Amino acid sequence: MLVRGARRRRGAAVRPVELRAIRAERDQRLSTGIGELDSVLGGGIVPGSLVLIGGAPGIGKSTLTTMALANLREAGRRTLYISAEESAAQIRLRAERLAQPSALAIPVIAETDLDTVVATLEQERPEVCVVDSVQTLHAGELSSAAGSVSQVREAAVRIMRVAKALRIAVLLVGHVTKDGTLAGPRVLEHLVDCVLQFEGERERTYRTVRAVKNRFGSTSEAGVFEMRDHGLVEVLDASARFVSEATRAPGSVVLCAMEGSRPLLVEVQALVSRSELVPPRRVVTGVDRNRVALVLAVLGRHAGIGLGAADVFVNVVGGVRIEDPGADLAVALAVAGAVKGVPLTAARADRPLACFGELGLTGELRNVAHGERRLAEAEKFGLTPAIDPSSHPTLRAALTAAIGAKRPSAIAA
Ligand code: TYD
Ligand code: MG
Repeated sequence: MLVRGARRRRGAAVRPVELRAIRAERDQRLSTGIGELDSVLGGGIVPGSLVLIGGAPGIGKSTLTTMALANLREAGRRTLYISAEESAAQIRLRAERLAQPSALAIPVIAETDLDTVVATLEQERPEVCVVDSVQTLHAGELSSAAGSVSQVREAAVRIMRVAKALRIAVLLVGHVTKDGTLAGPRVLEHLVDCVLQFEGERERTYRTVRAVKNRFGSTSEAGVFEMRDHGLVEVLDASARFVSEATRAPGSVVLCAMEGSRPLLVEVQALVSRSELVPPRRVVTGVDRNRVALVLAVLGRHAGIGLGAADVFVNVVGGVRIEDPGADLAVALAVAGAVKGVPLTAARADRPLACFGELGLTGELRNVAHGERRLAEAEKFGLTPAIDPSSHPTLRAALTAAIGAKRPSAIAA
C-alpha cells in the first residue's frame, strides 16, 4: 500500500525506508465460521482485503458467501451483501433455505450501478461485504457493456480503492466460463489479494474450493463441500465416502490425491470403447484433459496399449476436481483396466486398488510430493500396499502389478 498522510509535491523524490523501520501490524482475521473456507483463506478474512471467488454458474458462490456473511453477522460484524445479479427477494429466499437464522439479518442492496455501490460502501462502512457479481456491475462513464473487460476492471479498481481506504474486506464474486477460464475476472487476478476457485460439477454434490493466489497464506489449502438442502456442508470424511463407494469394477481405481495439504482418496473411472469417429472422443471430467492426452500417448508408446481407434472416457467420481500430477498413474491404470476388461489386482480382494504417481514421457513413474501422507491415508482404509513410484519405477512395472499381463494388448484398431 502507498504511504499515507505524507503530502508532497507530485513528482518530487521520496526517501526510501529500510523495511525494518516500517510498521506492519498483523491483522486479526475475521472468521467466516466455515472451517474449510477459513483454512483456504489462510485463517480467515484479512480486514480490508479483496478476495475474488470464481466459479461456474450454479456452483454455490452466492450460497457460500451468504453463509459466510450470516456467520460474521452472528459474530457481531458489520456486513453488507451487494447483489448486482439477483433481486433482494431472491436473496431472501436463498437465505431462508439456509440453516442459519442470522442469514435473514444480513443487510442487502440490489444494485448494478457502480457509483451507487461505491457511495453505499462509503456510507455503510461494513467490515465485510460481498459483491455478487463483479461482472454485473456497471460503470456509467464507460460505454462498454457490463461484464466487458474494461467494465470489470473499473468496477474492481473502484471497489478496491474504497475497500482499502475504509478497511472493508470485500468478497468479489466472479463467473467462470464452463471451460474453466475466469473470462472477465481473470484480468483481476493481479489486483486482488486472494483468488479462490470454486469447482465441481453443478449436477453433482461435491465441490472443492481452493486458493490459486493468496497474499496472506498458502495456496496449497483446499476444502471439500457438499451442496445439501440447507446450504453447503463441509465434507470432513471425504476419503471414507469415496472409498466405500468405489466399485472395484474394470476401469476403476482409487487415487491417493492431495487436496492442498490434505490427502484425499478418490475413485477414478475409465471407459474405453471402439470409436466410430475420427478423431475419436476424449471425454474427461475432474482431471486435466491435456494430462489425459499425455497418459494415453505414454500408454500407447511404452505399454503397447494403443487407443487411436477408441473413445476414451475418464471421470473422477463425485464431481471432485483433482489438480495433482499424481493422478497420471490412476488414469493410466483405470484406462488399462478398462481396455483389458479386468478388475485391477488389489492388496486385499475386498478392497479397491490404490495408486498415485506422475508419468514421465519415457514411461517412467515420477515421485510426487507427500508420498508418505498419501500412503498413510491409503493405509487408514486398508488399501496398502498401493502402487506408487517408489515401489514401481515404470508404468510397465505398475501395469504388471495391477493387471498381471506382461504385455497388455492393444485395443483392436
Ligand atoms: P448458488 O449459490 O445460487 O450458485 P451460484 O451463485 O454459484 O450461481 O446455488 C447453486 C445451486 O445450489 C442452485 O441451483 C440451488 C442449489 N441450492 C441447494 O441445493 N441448497 C441450498 O440450500 C441452496 C441455497 C442452493
Ligand atoms: Mg450467484
